[in-house]
Amino acid sequence: MKVFENISLKPYNTFGIDVKARRVVVLEPGDDLSGKWKVESGKCLVIGAGSNMVFTKDYEGTVITLSKTFHLSPFTSHLVTAWGGMVMDDLIQWTLDHGLYGLENLSAIPGTVGASAVQNVGAYGAEAKDFIERVEAYDLQERRHCTFSNADCHFAYRDSFFKHHPGRYLILRVTYRLSREFVPNLSYKALEGLPHDTAQQLREAITEVRWNKLPRPEEHGSAGSFFKNPVVDESTYLRLKAEYPDMPDAHRSDNGYKLSAGWLIDRAGWKGRTQGRAGVWPKNALVLYNADGCSGDEVRALAAAIQQDVKQKFGVALDPEAIII
Ligand code: EPU
Repeated sequence: MKVFENISLKPYNTFGIDVKARRVVVLEPGDDLSGKWKVESGKCLVIGAGSNMVFTKDYEGTVITLSKTFHLSPFTSHLVTAWGGMVMDDLIQWTLDHGLYGLENLSAIPGTVGASAVQNVGAYGAEAKDFIERVEAYDLQERRHCTFSNADCHFAYRDSFFKHHPGRYLILRVTYRLSREFVPNLSYKALEGLPHDTAQQLREAITEVRWNKLPRPEEHGSAGSFFKNPVVDESTYLRLKAEYPDMPDAHRSDNGYKLSAGWLIDRAGWKGRTQGRAGVWPKNALVLYNADGCSGDEVRALAAAIQQDVKQKFGVALDPEAIII
């Protein structure tokens, strides 16, 4: 375990926002979590790669994060248990190298294994919940280890049990149930026509599609999709579709019709615009980015202006996927 006092959180959030934390604790796979260290309740924040966070001020408590160490527990034929701090994309490459399939559609999502469970990350017709067998966590409140089955995690679209208990659970390990047989999942429209003879080919093609729509992290910070795709009722969907025939068809979900937030923001005229030092990515209106060393407040102000405008133009409320702290 490494402890740093009063350091910048810039390397710990993908937006690259430069605020300070009073303390940052970085855990390693073998660390004993009982005793030794203490966090004040309510003054603790657990972060993965910080790929979904916007800091608007210095954090006056302890930030806990897991080292990015590549660490797997011994695995059975199709269950793989990975350290929560591992970069998700590194795990995906490893699984394909070892003939284990399923995660390839989640390629190039910028986050950690732990975050895949907290956020139920998803892309191109797949979601982490489809593969997660169990999650091992440390409960910082009760100070004990606990294990969650897939059902215990209450997974939903970009949501989980853990998301509703921020600062309480450290996701130490996630076990994924994978397949020995590669069955390409091409259900998502944007994947039509992509090469898919092997999982590696599909992974590379998806990676390219993704990176064509997202800022390169070494050039501009961002949090991936900034807003969730809004779910509306049937009458709202039909009203919008009649008024805007060019609107992409909604995906039917259990609780309504899921619209494309990117399209709404784009159609409202925000794509490529900047406000202060924060901007809307020119190739994807769903992505807000750090145009030039922006503050969290600038991101928040831009997000609020977009929400207000989309609400006014389409009558649809946008809910951020990113967490504003
Ligand atoms: N669109 C526009 N203009 C834009 C952006 C999108 O018209 O500026 C349209 C597209 O043409 C398409 C539709 O909106 O018809 C949907 O766009 P896309 O397929 O790119 O997917 P998305 O719904 O915007 C979601 C996830 C992404 C994930 C992609 C691909 C959410 C919030 N976002 O985006 O996840 O990569 O699908 O599966 O669900 C993330 O969560 O960080 C993320 C990148």
